[in-house]
Amino acid sequence: MQPAPASGPELPAAVGATYARAERHGFMLSCEPAVGRLLATLAASVPAGGRILEMGTGIGVGTSWIVHGVGARDDVQVVTVDLDEQASAIAREASWPAWVTLRVGDVLAVLDELGRFDLIFADAQGGKWTGLDRTIAALRPGGLLLVDDMTPPRWMDDAHERHTARVRATLLSHPDLVSSELACGSGMILCARRRAPR
Ligand SMILES: C[S@@+](CC[C@H](N)C(=O)[O-])C[C@H]1O[C@@H](n2cnc3c(N)ncnc32)[C@H](O)[C@@H]1O
Repeated sequence: MQPAPASGPELPAAVGATYARAERHGFMLSCEPAVGRLLATLAASVPAGGRILEMGTGIGVGTSWIVHGVGARDDVQVVTVDLDEQASAIAREASWPAWVTLRVGDVLAVLDELGRFDLIFADAQGGKWTGLDRTIAALRPGGLLLVDDMTPPRWMDDAHERHTARVRATLLSHPDLVSSELACGSGMILCARRRAPR
């Protein structure tokens, strides 16, 4: 969660345009490039018929990294949900592939109807600070869960620090997950949901 370059040779053009849109609208919560680049890498690896969920669209920066990762495939579904109507409206101003669905609402209120996913970027308080167990349950076997902002430069308040510590403890000790901490950018945890033994 820090200002990112709006352009530069290291950013795909569409991603750079989305950072620029976020900057124009004063939206400061977009994922940083180190997180986005990993997100794109994971999105590129989803299996045929893959499904990707982003919890918290913001202005669409994370979504644009996911779209960059999926590339020219058209067998993948991407769903991104945000409860902030204004942010979602700005995100919808961009042109997205037909396989991207932007929804407005509390992601936890719609999670059950969304189904299960090969990749989830849990980047909203709903689904991360609250309802994390439901987010984990929404992973397909072998599915990947990414969270960022685990080691931010400063805590907003005590609750922020407490919630983050609880998320970390849950992800690192969950019996259905194999998790790894990545000391990169704002601090990430990447988790894979275990497959059932054959
Ligand atoms: C960190 S920003 C998301 C940034 C975006 N993923 C990106 O990488 O550009 C968090 C967003 O989550 C949204 N949010 C918070 N609680 C939510 C909930 N329960 N359901 C859906 N969105 C939520 C906020 O409105 C905010 O736009």
